[in-house]
Amino acid sequence: MAAVQVIAVANQKGGVGKTTTSLSLGAALALAGHKTLVMDLDPHACASIHLAYYPENLEYTVLDIFQAEKADYAGLWEKIVHPAERQGFFDFAAAHIRLSELEMDLKSRVGRGAILTEALAPLRERYDYIVIDCPPHVGVLLVNALVAADLVIIPIQTDFLALHGLRLIFDTIRTLNRVLPRPIHFRALATMFDRRAGACRRVLNLLRKKLGPRLCDTVINLDTNFREASAKGKVIYEIDPSSRGAVEYTLLAKEIADENA
Ligand SMILES: Nc1ncnc2c1ncn2[C@@H]1O[C@H](COP(=O)(O)OP(=O)(O)OP(=O)(O)O)[C@@H](O)[C@H]1O
Ligand SMILES: [Mg+2]
Repeated sequence: MAAVQVIAVANQKGGVGKTTTSLSLGAALALAGHKTLVMDLDPHACASIHLAYYPENLEYTVLDIFQAEKADYAGLWEKIVHPAERQGFFDFAAAHIRLSELEMDLKSRVGRGAILTEALAPLRERYDYIVIDCPPHVGVLLVNALVAADLVIIPIQTDFLALHGLRLIFDTIRTLNRVLPRPIHFRALATMFDRRAGACRRVLNLLRKKLGPRLCDTVINLDTNFREASAKGKVIYEIDPSSRGAVEYTLLAKEIADENA
């Protein structure tokens, strides 16, 4: 196994399945025996709240990393990371509502886009995968995640409206590639696919044609178990490990791990 692989789950479009993908892929990787950390980098803290980590009750969150000195990173992670509650689950780092204020706070800080990359250094030996749930807007948090990432997964909801906002994320990646020492490696992931709907099938065909191998082979279908999982504060594997959604995220984890092997 290579060194840690940092996976950012990103798309500026809201509601496309970023949080669902971060939690389900993180759970699938952990279940497959990979030491995995899931990190919530969205000020809305949906992934944290989903797992019943309420930011207002937490003393330490990823926000502290962005306010810390480099020398303090290792000690801080010890306080931020919630260890997996059981074998085969992921460790978790929660978000904080005030992450949204970083845009202003970091405005004059040199190298503000690479804070997370530097901060992850002490975690590199500890994990096989670090999965980052990104916010649905361009800003310093998304840039930090994209710069730190070895792989960016872009969930794309398979409907025509979702295609409309897609250029934004590719524009961001292109802009960053002009200044980064290595190009951002990305894969698009078709989500919320309804094979009974002709419109969904047409969108998937379009994505395959446009993106070719940049589109994950795995397609995530609609599955009501995801809503059920979120309502119960669980991941899909705890609701029904044989459900379509659970099986598909297991396939995605395998696809990613095979490529990383
Ligand atoms: N494959 C799926 N089948 C059915 N429902 C899904 C699926 N994936 C996600 N959902 C549901 O769609 C909603 C939006 O998903 P999610 O929160 O993962 O999107 P997001 O991209 O993280 O949104 P935001 O941009 O607001 O952070 C949630 O209610 C989630 O349970
Ligand atoms: Mg989300």
